[in-house]
Amino acid sequence: MKDQQINLPYIDQLLTLLDTGHPEVDLAFGRHVHWGYWFNPEQALNTPEDFSKAAEHLTREVYSAANVKNGQDVLDVGCGLGGTIASLNEQFSQMNLVGLNIDGRQLEQARKKVIARDGNTLRFEEGNACMLPFPDQSFDVVLAVECIFHFPDRRQFFQEAFRVLKPNGRLALSDFIPVDWFLPLVWYAKPPEGFYGYFDIGYTTKSYCKLAAETGFDQLLERNITVNTLPTYKFLQSMKQYLKLDVDLFSALSQTLILEWVSRLELIRYMIFSFRKQ
Ligand SMILES: C[S@@+](CC[C@H](N)C(=O)[O-])C[C@H]1O[C@@H](n2cnc3c(N)ncnc32)[C@H](O)[C@@H]1O
Repeated sequence: MKDQQINLPYIDQLLTLLDTGHPEVDLAFGRHVHWGYWFNPEQALNTPEDFSKAAEHLTREVYSAANVKNGQDVLDVGCGLGGTIASLNEQFSQMNLVGLNIDGRQLEQARKKVIARDGNTLRFEEGNACMLPFPDQSFDVVLAVECIFHFPDRRQFFQEAFRVLKPNGRLALSDFIPVDWFLPLVWYAKPPEGFYGYFDIGYTTKSYCKLAAETGFDQLLERNITVNTLPTYKFLQSMKQYLKLDVDLFSALSQTLILEWVSRLELIRYMIFSFRKQ
């Protein structure tokens, strides 16, 4: 599946910064490319070290929702630079770990960084989360950490996750979720593709509930962690010095600022979900 194209300017920018050697960017985003999770948000330090720890915590919160155990077959879709696979590789043994990404450049980085240990096997594959290049019933767990809003179709992804999961297998993901009454505004004010590329944050908790039932999943968990992620925004502001002039600076700053305020007002929530294949 090597002919897939994706336009995500924030990823292009990150790969350039990592390539040209920026230790602070590497520390903050060289492993995980997602928001942080602070157990005590008021104690956030706003440093790359602190942010990298918070990003690691967020990953663990998502895979804990899938009740990952030693010896499992785990697929991480939209795996970024391999941070979730790296974390699973460090925390568990006898695992078969597979990271999938539509962007081969990120996979190259992941392959360089993550080395299998403790009886684990791991591989990174190029492909689209909505057309998974794996046989039926091949995984115990499917993860999608902060990436589903980029996928062309959530329903197709759920059907594919259902197909590749073994019976009783689990799917866990994190996503930005509008409250019901705010949804029409999300549709109406849909921004043009900018710094964050194509994204669709038009799925509510009810939409997930319905989708899960229609695709054959039982919903196990629906958890609002917005408050724990809020220090991310202050940290992102402190990183704007690294944005190159060739990116659409206005789009980068305005999209992040809008997301910050709708999150602070809990009009859009950062949520973790988990589901079990019936
Ligand atoms: C915000 S990043 C999250 C990366 C990673 N999950 C993490 O948490 O570090 C979103 C990721 O989704 C990937 N992605 C976007 N659309 C995809 C698709 N249709 N299939 C597979 N991966 C996709 C992007 O290339 C990017 O790596």
